[in-house]
Amino acid sequence: MTKAARFPRTPAEAGQPQQAQANMANNPAHLTPETLPAPVMAGRDFLSNLDMTPEELRTVLDTAHSMKRGEWRGVKPLSGLSLALIFEKASLRTRTTFDVGMYQLGGHALTLSNAEIGLGTRERVSDVARNLERWVDGVMGRVYLQQTLHELADHAAIPVINGLSDMLHPAQLLADYQTIEEEFGTDLRGRRVVYIGDGNNLANSHIHLGILTGTDVTIVTPVGYEPNGSVLMDAVKRGANVTLTNDLGAIEGADVLYTDVWISMGQEAEADIRRRAFRGYQVTPAMLDTIAPDGIFLHCLPAHYGEETVPEATEHPKSRVFDQAENRLHAQKALLYHVMGEMAPRW
Ligand code: CP
Ligand code: NVA
Repeated sequence: MTKAARFPRTPAEAGQPQQAQANMANNPAHLTPETLPAPVMAGRDFLSNLDMTPEELRTVLDTAHSMKRGEWRGVKPLSGLSLALIFEKASLRTRTTFDVGMYQLGGHALTLSNAEIGLGTRERVSDVARNLERWVDGVMGRVYLQQTLHELADHAAIPVINGLSDMLHPAQLLADYQTIEEEFGTDLRGRRVVYIGDGNNLANSHIHLGILTGTDVTIVTPVGYEPNGSVLMDAVKRGANVTLTNDLGAIEGADVLYTDVWISMGQEAEADIRRRAFRGYQVTPAMLDTIAPDGIFLHCLPAHYGEETVPEATEHPKSRVFDQAENRLHAQKALLYHVMGEMAPRW
């Protein structure tokens, strides 16, 4: 999008006649406080995508699409509510979208870096939880260990949301599937989602989405870098279509090709070994030529160009990575509404 299109000077430049803007309030699709859907995950934790049923996922994604269409403009269902954002690791997308998302829904977000709060070092995780629950209405945590999120959730009487751990990145997957639905519609059963690279937090969460949506998930990794064993076992038990392989040929005909960094945050000491292990697994424009003609390329970002992909792939016509990044905002606003939408301000 050009700057002129993003910041139009006149309604005509925006492609939206003045009258249409004036009619926004009368648009039957435009929600009002009276016509909001009922929150489906009220007060619950979101530590994994499996904390939602397939039906709840459907509702959250429908809300995300509706928010993206602008149907929630001006509606402030989280007015008077606050969300604490805890970051043990760096972030651009997660931090910005949870913060802006709370603002757009009428609430407030405050960022707490680990340098400030020392989760588990300056004080016990359980004490952090028992303090935060007295002041704020929800916590989003980006942490090293998934266990830390469970500890926060066990000790706080307010919802805890996973903003990435060593094990999972469930908020990312909401945006990913919003993006996939924009391309292929809402019935994704049998669609081939191929994840290539490290069997990390993103790979594990992709397996969870296969369980919830019926997509056919193929994980292509080098030997020794497979996804978490219990996540895989669970998927098999639930009858999900999950394939694990190190055959790069599995990419052929994919509807969605997805990759993530080879060296996740916290793995910097293994960088050289990992770069060697993953050689050949780089997503290039030539690889994108082998996926389905209407297939798409996704990457959660940040990209380590020259490792798991190259700039020509994120700029490729099949790439949707920047729409995917935009959808972090819509999908998380939908999640926040469905988790916090029934809470009353306590002050
Ligand atoms: N994809 C993602 O979570 O980005 P950040 O690390 O910038 O939050
Ligand atoms: N697997 C990456 C994802 C970053 C959004 C990491 O954990 O660092």
